[in-house]
Amino acid sequence: MKKGIILAGGLGKRLWPITLTISKQLLPVFDKPLIYYSLTTLMLSNIKDILIITKEKDQRNYKNLLSDGSQWGINISYKIQNQPNGIPEAFILGEKFIGDSDVALILGDNIFYGSSFSDILQKTILNFKKPTIFLFNINNPSEYGVAEFNNDKLIKIIEKPKNFISNWAVTGLYFYPNQVIEVAKSLNPSTRGELEISDINNYYINSNNIEYIKLNRGFAWMDAGNSKSLLEASNFVQTVEERQGLKISCPEEIAFRMNFIDKKQLENLIDKIEHLEYSNYLKKIIE
Ligand code: DAU
Repeated sequence: MKKGIILAGGLGKRLWPITLTISKQLLPVFDKPLIYYSLTTLMLSNIKDILIITKEKDQRNYKNLLSDGSQWGINISYKIQNQPNGIPEAFILGEKFIGDSDVALILGDNIFYGSSFSDILQKTILNFKKPTIFLFNINNPSEYGVAEFNNDKLIKIIEKPKNFISNWAVTGLYFYPNQVIEVAKSLNPSTRGELEISDINNYYINSNNIEYIKLNRGFAWMDAGNSKSLLEASNFVQTVEERQGLKISCPEEIAFRMNFIDKKQLENLIDKIEHLEYSNYLKKIIE
């Protein structure tokens, strides 16, 4: 799996009025923009070809922030989503980009953090045979797609269930085979008028063709969709970073550690960074 899509459109209604002028996924989570967290998750999966889908009016800002990715040894391309017609539209808009490859999708407001996460991602991709979703045990599952089990067998995903189903929320990271493009095209909008990612996952569950990975204790998964969860995510990142002296989801560091760029390229990047704390941090990485 060599291709990944970041979906960073949407109206950001739950962050109104901030999102009247700024795209949600550009808002800061402690010391870096929200989209860095999903971007580096793909980088840690060893995915270098990345398509970023945004609203038209925001595309320029994303290009200013991330350019073509070559500074981090990756290839970033861009696509516009005119209306938030639903998460599966990413595969329809991204059809040309995906070509005949398998594809990872990550929602641009999702943040993953945990020990050995890059190992899990890389192993999953290396052994990739079936569509794979990642589940996270959560206190308030009714806000998410929720997995229903019969013993250990995943039998259904229910989008934002009113009644308790289980504590296992479906996170916004999905690995699919190329055929997902056709599945996305075959969907009908739900009662809320959107194509639903849970319909794709239920399609694969019904054909007995899905893997799930439970992110257990020791993992953090957050989606920074409203002002409270955005602040909580910032506080979490600050606490961990300041305690450990290590940054979470720093693309320059990850590009270097993944060997996407070499020492000389990292030094060149550092020379251009005017934020002393950030550049000192990267200098320490080289040492
Ligand atoms: O975060 C995980 C959850 O994401 C899953 O558990 C749910 O199954 C899944 O439906 C989704 O739920 P949300 O309620 O968070 O979906 P939302 O509509 O807020 O979209 C998630 C992100 O994707 C959001 O940051 C905006 C972006 N988006 C969404 C839609 C529908 C787009 O860029 N375009 C879209 O058309």
